[in-house]
Amino acid sequence: MPRESPKILVDITGFGYQKLTFNHKPNLDCTDKLGKDSQCLQKFFDKRALKNQDAHLGMTYIITYKKKPIGYVTLATANINKDAIFSKARPSTRDGALFPAMIILDFCIDKKSRGKTYGEYVLMWCNGLARTVSEKIGCRFIILYTKDPDAIRFYTKHNYQFAEGNQNDKFKLMYYDLFPELLKITI
Ligand SMILES: CC(C)(COP(=O)(O)OP(=O)(O)OC[C@H]1O[C@@H](n2cnc3c(N)ncnc32)[C@H](O)[C@@H]1OP(=O)(O)O)[C@@H](O)C(=O)NCCC(=O)NCCS
Repeated sequence: MPRESPKILVDITGFGYQKLTFNHKPNLDCTDKLGKDSQCLQKFFDKRALKNQDAHLGMTYIITYKKKPIGYVTLATANINKDAIFSKARPSTRDGALFPAMIILDFCIDKKSRGKTYGEYVLMWCNGLARTVSEKIGCRFIILYTKDPDAIRFYTKHNYQFAEGNQNDKFKLMYYDLFPELLKITI
């Protein structure tokens, strides 16, 4: 189903994505509405993102808008078990139980900048990256884990679905099927 246009118009050319480096690590407020680091996004960004990046366990991009840092997103390769996909939308293949995916390991828009549709554009950028990867090495889904009700609302609005069978876990696995967009590329 096509999404509605973003309600606030931002200048899409104003976004920048720079890989995190030791010398380029802005101060970001990643806490939640209650001022808590309930999903450990602050701790990850401040203490672990660079180390994980150096170990090629996840690439962190500083997101800028008009040169001002507004957040970060950490991406890696992953997979999703086919049983987690809604049965009627499950790709039919007998070749293994795991489908290739890109994972949004962490994603945070600085607290002051939330709710201005920046997140929506960043998600589009992630989609574009996943589609590019997909043409080269195969990547059918984007996945993520979150427990924040507002983030769940955000992802649901952008057509992410809950994985089947993880309802009791604290962090919910959500997925997005890139296939409709990939079909448009290859036509
Ligand atoms: C979730 C998040 C990345 C979305 O980015 P954003 O720039 O705020 O999102 P947008 O402005 O494009 O969309 C706003 C939507 O996000 C949701 N949202 C989540 N947290 C929000 C917040 N603190 N303020 C406003 N909207 C928020 C709402 O559903 C809102 O939808 P609505 O306009 O229908 O009310 C961002 O709010 C954030 O960093 N939250 C805290 C960290 C987090 O939960 N990250 C996801 C874990 S992987």
